[in-house]
Order: sequence, then structure tokens, then C-alpha cells
Amino acid sequence: MANKIIFPKEFLWGAATASYQIEGAWDKHGKGESTWDRFTHTPGKIFNNDTGDVADDHYRLWKKDIALMKKLGLQAYRFSISWPRILPTGRGKVNQKGVDFYSKLVDSLLAANITPFVTLFHWDSPQALEEEGGWPKRFMAEAFVEYTDVISRALGDRVKKWITHNEPAVVAWLGYGTGVHAPGQTDFKLSLPTAHHLLLSHGWAVPVVHRNSPNSEVGITLNIGWKVPASNSAADLDLARRDDGQWFRWFADPIYGRGYPSDVTEDFKKIDALPNGMDFVQDGDMKAIAVPTDFIGLNYYSRNISRAAEKDNSPQTVFPQPHSPEYWTEMPWENYPDGLTGVLGRVYFNYNPIKLYITENGASYSTPPDEKGNVPDVHRTNYLRTHFVAMQRAIQAGVPLAGYFVWSLLDNFEWSFGYSQRFGIVWVDYKTQKRYLKDSAKWYKNVIRKNGF
Ligand code: FCB
Repeated sequence: MANKIIFPKEFLWGAATASYQIEGAWDKHGKGESTWDRFTHTPGKIFNNDTGDVADDHYRLWKKDIALMKKLGLQAYRFSISWPRILPTGRGKVNQKGVDFYSKLVDSLLAANITPFVTLFHWDSPQALEEEGGWPKRFMAEAFVEYTDVISRALGDRVKKWITHNEPAVVAWLGYGTGVHAPGQTDFKLSLPTAHHLLLSHGWAVPVVHRNSPNSEVGITLNIGWKVPASNSAADLDLARRDDGQWFRWFADPIYGRGYPSDVTEDFKKIDALPNGMDFVQDGDMKAIAVPTDFIGLNYYSRNISRAAEKDNSPQTVFPQPHSPEYWTEMPWENYPDGLTGVLGRVYFNYNPIKLYITENGASYSTPPDEKGNVPDVHRTNYLRTHFVAMQRAIQAGVPLAGYFVWSLLDNFEWSFGYSQRFGIVWVDYKTQKRYLKDSAKWYKNVIRKNGF
């Protein structure tokens, strides 16, 4: 008989979501406009002009969604707070109804024995602050601390796991550089001040959370891919280094007290992303950013292959053909589980965080419900199973991996892709808001029950 894979006793099995992707109710009960509201309401920005106005209607259906989590036996639930639901214009006046929503959500999660993991910022900034310049401006870090203070005072007696930011690299590069994400700015000169202010706001927020939420753990979530050069040509090797530098080391290095990596600074100068050097860095900032944290969250989905374009040496990700659904999800991101073992080992042995969580991992497949309401999403189950084996290998190698959050609990609004990509282990019929457990969810339920498979 095959050996069983069993996870450490305290290992937490969870699922993740984000406010803008599931809540809907974009203008209900005093919520202020977010940058994602403004962006999706601008025609031509999102696939099919989809918006998160209704999304999974979770703001209304949250009790049912918690019942669903209970049914699955989830031990932890990672969700994010909509900043403009708490402070409609970003600072100053608090919207008590918004606070109450999350407070009730937390109470019900705890009553269901599900540990809440709260992400403070999963990209939906208050539009009012964007109008004053947003993340490229330093005041934004101060406003974030005010918001953190308000919400951690309100929930800090019950919430004990906090994540300051989700994937700051994505905000910096896609929000302000390529403009694929809100607020849709297209100036790489804004990306690095943005990155700095996000990191600085993290550094400033950590002690505030600790003060307001005794005995809590606070960390940050970074996205990480398994970066490989397409060949051992000098250009491909250099591109893989640059890609990793831009997307991961630029964020991880300062958090772990190493400052900004100098090779990447040189890369940025070459693309004119630092026209005034590092003038946005002030005395004491790097020390603030390097504040000790209790864990790191990693979002891992796939591997990225770097092939330098022949002409301009510009970054390019290669998607080998043909796409077999067993190995290629519909994003189309490759199912590459070995990369998960790789990134866990790399981050732990290189940066020595106290512990790690996989705060996101999952696959987009659009397998629909059949006539009986079953969703035979075999490829998603395969993706999860292979990644669980990959986690187990990292744990056996000594990585203190403390938990896993599948992305996502529900099919939801997938940013620029709108509703065209489905990452949920639960199918959502957007017309009726009916939820159907996919086969992967039923499989996951058993994994949780047995703490392995
Ligand atoms: C991550 C995001 C998450 C989701 C997944 C697919 O980058 O954090 O909100 O969109 O990708």
C-alpha cells in the first residue's frame, strides 16, 4: 500500500478570497468608491467590461458562505478588508456599518471554529486618496497606518492573524506601470515610489497591529514564481535574474533588512524607472521596512520561463504549446508543482522567516456543473494534489510551513479577466448566486479531515 501523506498536527488548511473580488455592494451602507470601482466603471479596461458591482454578492450572502466553509471543514479563512468600506474617503470619518460587517463576519467565523486571517490591503484603495496622488505619494503610507489603526482596534481582540499587504509588486507594476490594474496609470516612473510606500506602510503598520491586537501574528504576502531561464544563453540568464529581482527580491530583500538589491537598482536605471534616483527613500525608512514579522505569506501559482526577445531583450514569458489541461491551467499558467517546493526552500533557507504560509495557490479551470449539479473539475484536483505533495517535500526538508490557503473559496471577479477565469473550489452561478461544491472541494474536504491523503 502506498504511504500516506500526513501533514504536521498544527498545519492549517484554509481558503482565500479578497474583498473586491467577492463582496459586491460597491456603494452600499456608506462604502466609499475604490480605485477598482472607478477602473471597472471605465469602459474598455476589463474583459467584457465586467465589474465587481455585484460579484459573488458576498456582502449579502456571507452567512451562507460561512456555512459552506463549515461544511468543507475549513480551519482558516483568509479575506481582505475593503479600506473604503471602513474609511469612505480613506481617512478621517469612520463608516461604522462597514466596521460592523467585518466584525460580524469575524464573530461568525470564530463561532464556526475557523481562524480568520485578515489582509488589510488587497488592492482596493479609496479613490479619494488616489485623487491626491495615491501610492506614488508618501502621504498614502500615513493614511494606511490610520486605516490600520482603526480596523485593528475594532477587530484586534478577536483577529490574531494579520497580513498587511497582498502582492505589493502587482500594485506597483500593473497598477502604476502597465495600467492593466487599477488605478490604470501607465508610467514606470511611478512604480518604484509606489513599491516603496507600500513597503513603508507595511513597516509602519506592523507595530500598530501588535499594539492593538495583543498576541497576534503579523506578516506580509508576496507573490513568487519559479523563475527559470529558457536557455543558458547570457541574455536568458540575465533576464531570469532581472525578472526575479523586479518581482520578488525588490520586496523581500528590504523586508528582511537587506535594503534594495543593487543589481536590480541598476536594471531600473536602464529602463528609466528611477529618473531621480531613490529620492523617495528617507532616513529611517529602510529600518522601518525591516521591522520583524511573525511570518511570510507566499502566493505561488506557476513557473515563469524567461526568454530574451531577439530584438530588444525585453522580458517575455514563454508558454510552450500545446496546452494539455493537465499541465496548463486556463490563465494559461503552467501546473508546475516542483516550483512550490523550490520557492519554499529558497525563501526559508535564504531569508529565514519564523514561519511561512502559502496564502494563495490554485488553478483556473472553467469546468461547469453537470445536470446533477456536480462539477467534475479533475484537473483542479490534480493541481491541488500535486502541489500538496510539493509542500510535503518542503516540510520534510525542514521548512516551517504552517498552513495553506487555496485560491479561491469561490469563483470570483478575476481582475482584468473579469468573470472569464474561475479559480473557485466552489462554482458560482452569477445569475442566481447559487453555489455548487466542485469535486475538488469535496476532495479538499477529505484532505482537511484526514490532515493528508
Ligand atoms: C493573485 C491575486 C488574487 C487572484 C490570483 C489569481 O495574484 O492575489 O487576487 O487574482 O492572483
